[in-house]
Amino acid sequence: MDLRPAARPEPPRPPRRTMRALRDRRDELTSRIALGNQTAVERQHRLGKRTARERLELLLDEGSFVEVDMYRKGTTGASTDGVVAGSGTVDGRRVFVYAQDFTISGGSLGAAHAAKIHKVMDMAMDTGAPIIALNDSGGARIQEGVMALDGYGGIFRRQVAASGIIPQISVVLGPCAGGAAYSPALADFTFMVRETAQMYLTGPDVVQAVSGERVTHDQLGGADVHGGRSGVASFVHDDEETCLADVRYLLSLLPGNNLESPPSCECGPGDDLRPSLADIVPVEPNRPYDIRAVIAELVDDGEFLEVHEGWAGNVVCALARINGEVVGIVGNQPLVLAGVLDTSASQKAARFVRFCDAFNIPLVTLVDVPGFLPGTEQEYGGAIRHGAKLLYAYCEASVPRIQVILRKAYGGAYIVMDSRSIGCDLSLAWPTNEIAVMGAEAAVNVVHRKELAAATDPAELRAVLIAQYADDLMHPYYAAERGLVDDVIDPAQTRSAVSRGLAMLRDKRRRTPARKHGNVPL
Ligand code: HXC
Repeated sequence: MDLRPAARPEPPRPPRRTMRALRDRRDELTSRIALGNQTAVERQHRLGKRTARERLELLLDEGSFVEVDMYRKGTTGASTDGVVAGSGTVDGRRVFVYAQDFTISGGSLGAAHAAKIHKVMDMAMDTGAPIIALNDSGGARIQEGVMALDGYGGIFRRQVAASGIIPQISVVLGPCAGGAAYSPALADFTFMVRETAQMYLTGPDVVQAVSGERVTHDQLGGADVHGGRSGVASFVHDDEETCLADVRYLLSLLPGNNLESPPSCECGPGDDLRPSLADIVPVEPNRPYDIRAVIAELVDDGEFLEVHEGWAGNVVCALARINGEVVGIVGNQPLVLAGVLDTSASQKAARFVRFCDAFNIPLVTLVDVPGFLPGTEQEYGGAIRHGAKLLYAYCEASVPRIQVILRKAYGGAYIVMDSRSIGCDLSLAWPTNEIAVMGAEAAVNVVHRKELAAATDPAELRAVLIAQYADDLMHPYYAAERGLVDDVIDPAQTRSAVSRGLAMLRDKRRRTPARKHGNVPL
């Protein structure tokens, strides 16, 4: 019998700590995280949606993405905690981004997920670069309770602090429910994709339980609802590719922050004549035409990015370049409701004017406005309050402001559409222009009511009085003689006149007394 102690088994040898082994482990972990859960990825694709990383590839310049917090975990136990965050470039210019990953717990937002978003938002503010959110989330992570709500609060607070300092863009590419929808609402611009994106405060089930109303997710908060009715979405697209391509286009027109000017480019021909402008706009004040055709003639290469194309079509708001310099254009649209201002148009234009002013984008306002839309629906809906927003926005704007009056400019709507009295720097009028308190017929009916009632031939007298009123008052020279119009221009020279005006005003500075903030009518 062998009494010697049995040979002890060799202890397992720890893997050799070589740099290569550690690096391989890191690479394996990193690619596993980037690959994600394939079953969930396939489901995402089946729903017609891309993954967070695929979206970032479309949005950012190739190979420019620098990720932060890839390994961060929260209550889901999955690395990233359902949001891919970091920074990259778009056409070589720095942006910060976060893309919610629906394949991890439906992209729901818990404390770690929120902390990652807070981190990139803070970096964007510290470096003065735009922040872009790609939203695709079931909302507050239910299992985390108040911690999830706290995370949202941190996002909203940062968005408000960053407002007017860095551009903020929200791209809704999936569900965005509950209070989460306030994040796109606080952004400067919100994009949505048809069919796959929805935004609402309370979902269809709650709606039915509370009011009995049955609606689908899309009917309640789809892209066309927000792009055409509520006005929450500034841009609506059919698919993610065109949507993200348009985000890139928008960024090419914006400065990185409020201390920079928007990027200018060498593109665009010089101060050339545009004779076709005179053919686009009919001389008769009530004949419709498409103001977008006028804008296309004025801007470089006929290219402009229309904001809120599907909402409040009676006013057109667009970003474009004139002689390579970015401008914001606001124009009444005679094709829709004869171009009147109403509650929606006032809100749309007011927000656009405030954005342009915050980010040093000069404003060109094309006026052809018969007045405000009359009626109880408008008055009860707060037409005065909403119109005051536009008035306030223009009065406050300190960027270069050029008004071009094409045809009609009546009453309060004339004042609101960036008239000299509220501070435009340069007012140009076409010879077709009619600035007046109201149209000739309405004016004659009010001023000469008694004479008309006593006349033997009221129709003939009315015609004479209308012609007289138009001769006396309804031409640009009445305003030009009094300094309210700086020049009466040949329509063909509008582009060159605007371009020269912008060059003249480029160094405009205006100081205002310090105050906490104004009290804009909301
Ligand atoms: C935790 C969630 C979640 C949430 C989805 N998931 N939403 N987990 N918290 N809020 C999980 C699901 O359990 C599921 O997990 C996975 O994500 C995918 O979800 P599905 O339901 O299978 O996907 P789908 O059928 O496409 O439906 C998507 C959905 C639905 C419409 C978003 O998931 C849904 O209604 N979610 C709840 C929405 C909601 O009520 N959120 C709270 C809103 S209030 P598994 O493990 O099965 O894959 C809110 C307050 C914010 O957000 C307040 C801020 C101030």
